[in-house]
Amino acid sequence: MSQSIKLRFLIASGPTREPIDPVRFISNYSTGVMGRCLVEAARKQGHRVTFVECPKDAGTALELQAKLKTLLPKHNILIMAAAVCDSRPSKVSKVKIKKELLRTIYLVKNPDILAGLAKRKKKGQIFIGFGLESSKLFERGLKKLKQKGLDFIVTQRVGSDASPFGDKSVEAFLLDKRGVYQRFKSIKKNKLAERLIREAENAR
Ligand code: CTP
Repeated sequence: MSQSIKLRFLIASGPTREPIDPVRFISNYSTGVMGRCLVEAARKQGHRVTFVECPKDAGTALELQAKLKTLLPKHNILIMAAAVCDSRPSKVSKVKIKKELLRTIYLVKNPDILAGLAKRKKKGQIFIGFGLESSKLFERGLKKLKQKGLDFIVTQRVGSDASPFGDKSVEAFLLDKRGVYQRFKSIKKNKLAERLIREAENAR
């Protein structure tokens, strides 16, 4: 083990699912691989980890928000790798909607969970976000980090020629709130996770 202080990590990952009716939902391509790599890397260093894996442990964004609010006070570090759906259907039908009626789905915005939690951040807690960007990974990452009140953010490239989903190497930036960054043209998720856990340890 590389260092002696053992920390309590709260790690959320995977896609939220926003139901339309008992059959259908809105979601995204997230697989949760990054979250599992982070859990493994933190445990390897002897840290205690609470893992919230969407959609198994929290289905919707609102469920995830409630769960993290409850768990957060007992943890030193939050890593938010969950792919939260930015919107949800304004109404969830209790019965299956017949196809002839399924033309338009009205959406309402979900809360920004990470930004909301960061407002209740306690002294000494570290908040880490994950962002997906199709361009300007550094600039947009730094902007998100500041807007959401984070200590670190990892931004990964996504686009027609770059998919970060699943067990593969990704292009990523790891940046802190001073704007200090590490750039990875191609890095495996388990290596990226190890780097991030080390950064979190050093920031304490
Ligand atoms: N996030 C969140 N709640 C949301 C949306 C995102 O907590 N409703 C968190 C994600 O878990 C991630 C970070 O915010 O850690 C950045 O997510 P991302 O999807 O890249 O950014 P958005 O804030 O959704 O902005 P945009 O979709 O415009 O890029």
